[in-house]
Amino acid sequence: SRRERKSDMKRKLVVSCARLLSCAPERSSAGDPLGAVDDGAVLVDGGTIAALGSASELRAAHPDVLHVDHRGLLSPGLVDAHTHAAWVGSRAGEYALRMRGADYEAIARAGGGIAASTRALRAASLGELTAALEARLGRMASLGVTTVEVKSGYGLDETSERRQLEAVAALSERPDLPALVPTFLGLHAAPPERGGDRDAHARDCLRWLEGIARDGLARYVDAYVDRSAFSVAQARPLLERARELGLGVRLHAGQFADVGAAELAAELGAASADHLEHLSEAGAMALAEAGVHAVLLPLASFTLGQAPPPIERLRRAGVALVVASDSNPGTAPSESLPLAMALGLRSYGLEVAEVWLGATRHAARSLGSEAGVLRAGAPADLVLWDLPREEDVLQPWGVARTRAVLRAGELIAGTLGG
Ligand code: NIG
Ligand code: FE
Repeated sequence: SRRERKSDMKRKLVVSCARLLSCAPERSSAGDPLGAVDDGAVLVDGGTIAALGSASELRAAHPDVLHVDHRGLLSPGLVDAHTHAAWVGSRAGEYALRMRGADYEAIARAGGGIAASTRALRAASLGELTAALEARLGRMASLGVTTVEVKSGYGLDETSERRQLEAVAALSERPDLPALVPTFLGLHAAPPERGGDRDAHARDCLRWLEGIARDGLARYVDAYVDRSAFSVAQARPLLERARELGLGVRLHAGQFADVGAAELAAELGAASADHLEHLSEAGAMALAEAGVHAVLLPLASFTLGQAPPPIERLRRAGVALVVASDSNPGTAPSESLPLAMALGLRSYGLEVAEVWLGATRHAARSLGSEAGVLRAGAPADLVLWDLPREEDVLQPWGVARTRAVLRAGELIAGTLGG
């Protein structure tokens, strides 16, 4: 087949580096949680990591293959496990109002917020939306991101929700962009034609889900379960149906108030509960027991001026922590997972290793992906940083500090020469 021929043609190469972060549990220990290898190297073959070891050994064992001698840090490609990247338009006016003290939930009640992005989305063709998403994903790649979860949730009618997911599907074929994971977030807001009737919109979403699942347009279903959004009772039927259809669940949980979304996530065996600024002790225990990942979104709480989630409570309970960008035009008008990681360290008080695992191994696991670690058999998703150590990457650079970014062994940003 064409695909086999293409992967045969993929070259073998050895990438050696001053310091490698495997992020693999089998290489990590209490003193070395990221499983680092100084003077390490990976052998890439056919889009996959074929071997990992010391630079001198791998170089000696494979003298005839292309050899990239990187003097800096090498890490797994970053995994952004929560984005609303399929958006068009701008809400800069609202942002300015909020910076002068206006309230996010009040703006939404007055017809702005998500509804403003819905108006822009509905006016955009599939081509326009796909072009906006493509450009955004290219910029994310340049920052070191090789896997991106993308939610719908700005269409809010069947055609427009599907259009968002179709844009994701179209770009999923592209080897020169990050790998994509699509999520149906119909329960983001009730659309204007429903006059804000959330019960009616939840019934609509339940109907649309059948076709979305049948057409393979989503791997996860998300719902915004909060005091100004959907209740647990309104969200449950859709999420239960999603599980029956073999889809995973992720939830916007406790961003403004704890209305029981964490317990719902646990009950449904969700892959993740996200935001969690408001989370009880019982909620944290429920997440831990059910193996639900906590997806932390420091860019959103930064622009909203919120206090961080109860990190120590999550740690003590033993919940796996993920750090993501939440990239969206309202609460996180940014495309930078590295900036979210920097804020995870600075504003949330996470440890360096917690941030790294949260944007690599834990993020990938929350998406059912084999990426996020460097080990034999994993996809060759690699970032060659122009920085020496893991701590350097977590400073708030605000610009790309990548030299080269590979997805499945192919360059998607930067250059291997020079
Ligand atoms: O993750 N609060 C709900 N959803 C998004 C924001 C969406 C928007 O404002 O457009 C969030 O913060
Ligand atoms: Fe979000």
